[in-house]
Amino acid sequence: MNIQESAVLELEELDVIQKGWDQERHFFKNKVHPDDFPPLPELPAARYTDEAFYQLEQEHLWSKTWVLAGFANEIAKPGDFKAMEINDRPIVLVRGKDREIRAFYNVCQHRGSTICKTANGNAKQLTCPYHGWTYDLEGNLQFVPAQHEFPALDPAQKPLRSIRCEMNGNLIYVSFDDNAQPHQRFLGNIGLLMSDIPFDQVMHYETVAWTVESNWKSVQDAFSEAYHARFVHAQTAHQSLDTTAPVKYLFKHGHYVQINRSRQGEAGIFGQNQEAADESRTIGQMKPLTRYGQRAYNLFPNLTLPITEGAFSVIAIWPVDVGTSRIDLHFLKICPDGELVVTEDDREAVIQFSAVIDEDIATLAGMHNAMTSGGLDSIPLSYGEQALYNFHREVDRLIGPERIDPALRVQDANIPVY
Ligand code: FES
Ligand SMILES: [Fe+2]
Repeated sequence: MNIQESAVLELEELDVIQKGWDQERHFFKNKVHPDDFPPLPELPAARYTDEAFYQLEQEHLWSKTWVLAGFANEIAKPGDFKAMEINDRPIVLVRGKDREIRAFYNVCQHRGSTICKTANGNAKQLTCPYHGWTYDLEGNLQFVPAQHEFPALDPAQKPLRSIRCEMNGNLIYVSFDDNAQPHQRFLGNIGLLMSDIPFDQVMHYETVAWTVESNWKSVQDAFSEAYHARFVHAQTAHQSLDTTAPVKYLFKHGHYVQINRSRQGEAGIFGQNQEAADESRTIGQMKPLTRYGQRAYNLFPNLTLPITEGAFSVIAIWPVDVGTSRIDLHFLKICPDGELVVTEDDREAVIQFSAVIDEDIATLAGMHNAMTSGGLDSIPLSYGEQALYNFHREVDRLIGPERIDPALRVQDANIPVY
């Protein structure tokens, strides 16, 4: 769908959302859904358990898409680096002398040793521990011990292999596809909707990680619908948010946002009292909606950004193997003056939000065993779970439906996306 920017921005105007919430409430109360919403096809359960399908995802999805690799303040100074594996590929983010952030394969061009062996550090140059080949912070091969013994070697032809790296404010995204479209274009209209969020002011202060015996899509599904919240989060998120009637918008490329109304009205998110809410005002230039509800953006393939006043986090889901996933819960803070001060309230937010994820983990644990048992053939999808359909369709689109066993494909349904 090709729609005007202004029409996209209107989707999250407060009066539009409030009308949307009333309408969704009406649907829920009267046990109906919009007349024109089509029944959704069931998802074959084997999509979550089949080893060949998992390999197709590795090859065609994870190697083509954009993924979040870190935050600018994790590598704040020239020479700071962050090394990690993303889908089994060793990568390193480096802040250059020119203060630019670059991404490289953390792979020495001599014989393939990983170069940075610690997760974080600061270095004047990157020296391979195996035979001492040394690269500058921009990835150029600078020094080769006993270079005269390599008569044919031209160091200028042996820089570290770079990886596409683009910033969205202080969020660092990478793609293994040199031909990937620019990250902003990949986000498309959902990026436009998020344009009030001051990503250039966010700073990372904590990450909590879990491993769970579930396929990564089962975990991503859990962060793409509010249907489970009244059961799994009955005593937590469901207390502060009306999770039965979110406003939902689907976007191209598998992106999605659901917007849940705060039960306490203005500034009532997460049960803050008015005084505490006033003190922690971070709304700045953010949409008025920020005071009345929680926007939870799903950015394909593996991110969820729940945005509320005074609370800002990113959930990233990573495949470990077909039946195991890792959840990284990153805590961020909006710091308009670039100074990160972590308060007791920020620490409390880590404890409280981690407890909510613990509730998800408890239901997701062992799901892989359950799904491989032969006890489930396919997964029906409700109106409230429409994001799962949009997400799985994008998975198939990236892999290429012709490569997928017909029994595992997601069938067509005609639902509008922005
Ligand atoms: S593998 Fe890096 S210097 Fe030999
Ligand atoms: Fe949940």
